[in-house]
Amino acid sequence: MYSHAGKRRIRRFCKRAFWNVIMRITTLSENTAGNRPKGLLAEYGLSILLETNGRKILFDTGQKLSTVHNAALLGIDLRDLDGIVLSHGHFDHTGGLRSVLEETGEIEIIAHPDIFQKKYAKSGNSKTYIGIPYTKEELEEVGAKFRFSKGPTYIGDITVTGEVERKISFERIDKSLYVEVDGELKNDELLDDQALVIKTDKGLFVILGCAHRGMINTIEYAKKITGGDEIFGVIGGAHLVAADKIQIEETVKALKVYKILKIGISHCTGPKASARLADKFGNRFFYNNVGSVIELK
Ligand SMILES: [Fe+2]
Ligand SMILES: [Fe+2]
Repeated sequence: MYSHAGKRRIRRFCKRAFWNVIMRITTLSENTAGNRPKGLLAEYGLSILLETNGRKILFDTGQKLSTVHNAALLGIDLRDLDGIVLSHGHFDHTGGLRSVLEETGEIEIIAHPDIFQKKYAKSGNSKTYIGIPYTKEELEEVGAKFRFSKGPTYIGDITVTGEVERKISFERIDKSLYVEVDGELKNDELLDDQALVIKTDKGLFVILGCAHRGMINTIEYAKKITGGDEIFGVIGGAHLVAADKIQIEETVKALKVYKILKIGISHCTGPKASARLADKFGNRFFYNNVGSVIELK
């Protein structure tokens, strides 16, 4: 970790130019890290900074340490954030929230009210807690101002989807994920799962958290609630790690129809689906990991 003086020096050194840039997206936390600058941390999870039209929104906060550490190395001052959006309650997207709040102080957080549900992953007879590792009150003490919404939230050219409609028959929710309701475990429908959508003049840019409700369901719902038609780019976790061959093939086929120009796969997409997408999308495909920067000029 860096001292405050050290962080100031890094910020001065890295001060990032924004002229001629309409939108910039920087990945601060992901399962793997790039090599520039040296010292970026990889950690299972996701956190992506969106800068557009003078707004700075942090989408997810990673699992624990990496978001604050990597932001400092990348010359990003988290005190400048205008808001935080949480894609869902899982620990690998919310565990870094406390350390981010210690940097930002009081800040608005847009999320679905179900993020505080007790969530588990089950394998055979063993279950592991994978929900948010904080109470709402703990987070409010360090500055969280929650704005809960089940429906879409519109912030200028940015849309936070809210609950994603499920209409695609080949997309299934991971059956190993559970939620505790009245002391009983039941399959988690992940109603809290949501994405960020940015309207650009090249089409919609969709940032996925884990896409537990389905990558294609999420893109279709993004089109519906924004009125957009063309898909310029998609990045983030597609949760195809547990998908069978049919779901992967149907997903690739559906994505080809959109004529996507940038597809940056992260986190829970899984090696099989990533390899298939790399093969099908050629130089439009990239691995969106820590330090990846996408700019629209
Ligand atoms: Fe995840
Ligand atoms: Fe998740």
